[in-house]
Amino acid sequence: LEARKPFISGNWKLNPQTKEEAVKLAADISATVTDDSPDSDVALFVPYVFIEAAMASAGDSLMIGAEGVCPEIKGAFTGAVSTAMLDSVGVKWALAGHSERRVIFGESDEYINGQCLKLIEQGMNVMLCIGESESEYNQDLAGAVCAVQLKKGLAGISKEDMSRVAIAYEPVWAIGTGKVATPEIAQSVHATCRSILADMYDQETADATRILYGGSVTPESVDDLMKQEDIDGALVGGASLDAEKFGRIINFQ
Ligand code: G3P
Repeated sequence: LEARKPFISGNWKLNPQTKEEAVKLAADISATVTDDSPDSDVALFVPYVFIEAAMASAGDSLMIGAEGVCPEIKGAFTGAVSTAMLDSVGVKWALAGHSERRVIFGESDEYINGQCLKLIEQGMNVMLCIGESESEYNQDLAGAVCAVQLKKGLAGISKEDMSRVAIAYEPVWAIGTGKVATPEIAQSVHATCRSILADMYDQETADATRILYGGSVTPESVDDLMKQEDIDGALVGGASLDAEKFGRIINFQ
């Protein structure tokens, strides 16, 4: 069985506010990836307008991805960005299903599934974000919510194409709250997600799929999270805006 390669990623969301800051932050973060760093995939998901500048300043040590994509290919969709557009500027990864997109922008599981399918069709990779709300967590519904979001989000994606999918488990109650899930809680939901993937595909596919944790990851919490068997990486919001903090997360121990 091949070990899953760790995947450390940052999601800048609606930050930073200028191209100059974006360029500097991407360069400072890329400088934290050294020959001594863990052998991981490292990516930053950045606002569309900063993608090319961030790529130029990050160089080869980290990938620059998009925070989203429109599931429509072309035409009358004002404000939208397609997979072909992203592909043409060299983007390999995009997020789909982030809880902020689900809740604030009203993206449905069907819309999110369209994004996943279009990214795969374009030969790109997708990081599908899933996770339960606080009230769902309190009702012990984390596994059930993740099952629905995985099944609906990945509908129509073949087991062969799962090599181009990563999952990010982000409990909504842990996002931007400073309330990181304990390694034990995160591990248990990750294990559940992996068994859901085994039911949907097979054990081999489930074992090969990377499942990242997201929600208030910091330099202080990353090491214990990464020690968990089913936690294969991190999707980091706030701390990815600080090169020193994110550098420490990239260089987890
Ligand atoms: O996508 C990452 C994110 O939602 C987690 O944000 O600020 O809690 O690390 P944060």
